[in-house]
Parts: sequence; structure tokens; C-alpha cells
Amino acid sequence: MSVESSPTDSGSPRDPEAVPEPHEGSTGAPGRGLSRRGLLALSGGIGLAVGAAAGGAAATLSRPSVAGGADLVYPFFAEHQAGITTPAQDRLHFAAFTMRPGSSRADLIELLQDWTYAASRLTQGQDVSVRGAFDGGPYLPPDDTGEAADLPASGLTITFGFGRTLFVAADGTDRFGLAAQLPADFTELPTMVNDFIQPARSGGDLCIQACANDPQVAVHAIRNLTRIAIGRATLAWSQLGFGRTSSTSTSQQTPRNLFGQKDGTNNLKAEEPERLAEHVWISDGPTWTHGGSYLVARRISMTIEVWDGLQLTEQDRVLGRAKGSGAPLSGGTEFTAPDFAAIGAHGRPLIDPRSHVARTNPANNGGIAMLRRGYNFVDGNDDQGRLDAGLFFIGFVKAPARFAAVHTNMARDDMFVEYLKTTSSSVFLVPPGIARDGYVGHALFAS
Ligand code: HEM
Repeated sequence: MSVESSPTDSGSPRDPEAVPEPHEGSTGAPGRGLSRRGLLALSGGIGLAVGAAAGGAAATLSRPSVAGGADLVYPFFAEHQAGITTPAQDRLHFAAFTMRPGSSRADLIELLQDWTYAASRLTQGQDVSVRGAFDGGPYLPPDDTGEAADLPASGLTITFGFGRTLFVAADGTDRFGLAAQLPADFTELPTMVNDFIQPARSGGDLCIQACANDPQVAVHAIRNLTRIAIGRATLAWSQLGFGRTSSTSTSQQTPRNLFGQKDGTNNLKAEEPERLAEHVWISDGPTWTHGGSYLVARRISMTIEVWDGLQLTEQDRVLGRAKGSGAPLSGGTEFTAPDFAAIGAHGRPLIDPRSHVARTNPANNGGIAMLRRGYNFVDGNDDQGRLDAGLFFIGFVKAPARFAAVHTNMARDDMFVEYLKTTSSSVFLVPPGIARDGYVGHALFAS
């Protein structure tokens, strides 16, 4: 397939399996630019793209910065993809994509290269391409949609994942010649108690997790990456989230979820490299996966109106922690380790064995821990005036079976489950970090 680069994006025709050309040093973005197909997708058609190539000015748009530390910019090229141990930002736009029927391995590689290029710019606070929102000429649809043009990077991270169907489709076909690279660990999750899974908002060939401290920046990223995919992949489903429900760094305060609880107290944190190596980063199976992780995403509806009618002591008992302080019911302060053997005056354990904390704590799950990185959501309300609200759970684990083991223990008799209903469930393999001369999943296609 012919993949020409636009003059304004300073690249040469590319072999789809080849390493992209070196990067433009100052922008942090790969210098090869978007493929011709990526540019076509942005400009809406072949005729328009020809005009774009003729009329574009090679200006580098960098968004204004904000003083006072609000302008967080995270590196894009690193050992691990950003958006996992990065201090959890406040907003999420998560999206899953399906490769277009009939698309080839070369199409997939080209899309991943285009997404890598665009994400490397967006995360640095730049427009999606060099021509960006305003410099493509007056007679063309702009490359960049423009709604983030005056906004700083806002800590944007873009994390890419591969669905199991990318390797083996639901009908068993090997669309992209990747079946032999499917890790044995990449298993589906079993059906759990209280699963009401809607296939239309579950799974997908690819996923993108965009997190930022400004919702418009996260939405802008997904919107523009979706545009780039046109003709190669289609947006299958997406989810907005607000208010992080975890801390992934000791530098962060523990936030609260929509049950009003401190959430993220006993989470894996960026400052614990040994525990991350033990529980999060893949180190077994095909070498192309090493340094990656499995992302489990579950949209969990919470019956908040029912919950709001519970006595505070019952709310505490169901969780196993005091709602106000976040301290375990066995005593101490928020970060005191729970003592599941502690017995109260009534002769029963101070932390109910069926509480959420008791069911999910590593001590009661063969030592398994996970890095949780979920977000609150409210998607309107039903016809009886109840909010369609909950937690878009995101957890990173070394293998999906580890998540399933903890979840099975939780689903068995966790008192929490009575107030939860899971409506979407997905697992994606997040490949390791991206090298400056590579693209997301590069080693998969080289192996
Ligand atoms: C709407 C659903 C959920 C809510 C509201 C929720 C809320 C909470 C809260 C408030 C805590 C205690 C504070 C903390 O240590 O972070 C917690 C802990 C935890 N949750 Fe959940 N959770 C939900 C679903 C899940 C699911 C699906 C899993 C996966 C199996 C999970 C795994 C954990 C783990 C591993 C802990 C840490 C327990 C510990 O080590 O003490 N949670 N959750």
C-alpha cells in the first residue's frame, strides 16, 4: 500500500513495517508526520488532501503555558506508557475501536504510527499535526479540531491498548497475522455475579485511555485520534469520567467516589517500583509484551439512591473503613493496615469478613494487588429520576487471571455487590512504552 507523507509533515514514503524516521527534536514528536491516509481522514477526502499539501504552512503550534504548576506535561516516550503510574488526573475519556472490515496488517501498523505521532504531539500541548487547527489554509477543513488550541497540556496522557480480537477475531480468524503472538496470559474474564454486560459498550480491537486535568483536553485527544482513524478503525464505544477514584502516587490526596468514600487508600503507587514489578508490569510470555500491563475496564453502575438511605454505620460496615477518615474499622488512621483478626466487644471481627476491604485486600487474595485508576461517571438519569451513575473501574494487572481471582472473591459475598451492577467489561493489553524511533506495539510487528 502506498503511504506518502505530506510535505508539510516532513516525511518520506514509508514502508509500513519500517521504523519511522527520526523525530523533530524540538517538538518531541516523530518527524515523519501523519501518513497520507491519516491526513486524508483529517481533511475529509482526497480532493481536499491535495489542496492541503499545496496550501499548508509548516508552522509549529504550541499552546500557551500556564504559570503556577497548573501546566503539567508528561513525557510521551518512556519505558512504560504514561497514564498508568502517572499521578491520576481528574478527567477521563476512554474509547474503544474496531478495525474496519477488510483492513490489513499494513493498515493497522499505519494507524498505530499515525496515532503515535499525533499522541506524541497532543500530550506535549501541541495540535494534532504541524498544520494544526489554523495553518492548513483557508479552503480546507483544519487538521486539528481546535477546541484545545488555547489550553495547556493539562497533564494529558494517552495510553493505547490492544484487545484480544486484534489477535484472534470472534470468529477465530487471524486478520492481522498476529495469532501466534497472542500471549497465553491474555484470557477473557469469567462472568461475574451482578454482571449485566452490554456487548455494545464492551471489548474492541483497540483502546485509548485519555486522562487530563481539563475535560476538554481529554475529549479533544479522543476526538482527533478518532478522526485520524477514519477509514481504518471506527469508534465502537466511549466513556467519559470525572473525579479520579484513586491515588496512584503518594504525592496525591485520596479522592472520594460517588458513595462518598475515600477511594485509593491502599492502591499501588508510582513510588513502589518493586511492587509494580511484581503486580503490574508484564514480565512473562512474549518479549514484546514485557514492560506492558493488562488494563481491565468495567463500567459499574452504583445504586446511589439506595446507598444514600443506609445508616452511616452500615455504610462503614459494608466497606470495612470509616467513611469520614478512611481508617480501617480495626482502628488507626487512613493508612493504618487493616487488622482482619481484631475482635470487637461484641465478639465479632471489627472488620466484617464480607466487607469490600476484607474481600479485596491482598492478605485475603494470595497476595495479589492491582493498580486501580478508575473515574466517577454520571450519564444522565432513568425515567424514574435515578441517576445513571457509578464508577468506571480501571485496573492494571500483570495478568487478567489475577484480576479475576480477586474479583471472584469479591463477587462471592462482598456486601458491596448488592449496590453494584456491571454493565461493561473489557480487557486490553497495554504494550510497553514507546521509543522515540518507534510506535505503539512496534515490537509486536517486528517479532
Ligand atoms: C463501584 C465499585 C467499587 C467501589 C465504589 C469501590 C470502592 C473502594 C473503596 C472505597 C476502597 C477502600 C479504599 C482503598 O483502599 O482504596 C476500595 C478498595 C479496594 N477495591 Fe474497590 N471499589 C469498587 C470496585 C472494585 C472492583 C471491581 C475491584 C476489583 C476486584 C476492587 C478492588 C479493590 C481493591 C483491591 C481494594 C484495596 C483493598 C485493600 O487492599 O485494602 N474494587 N474499593
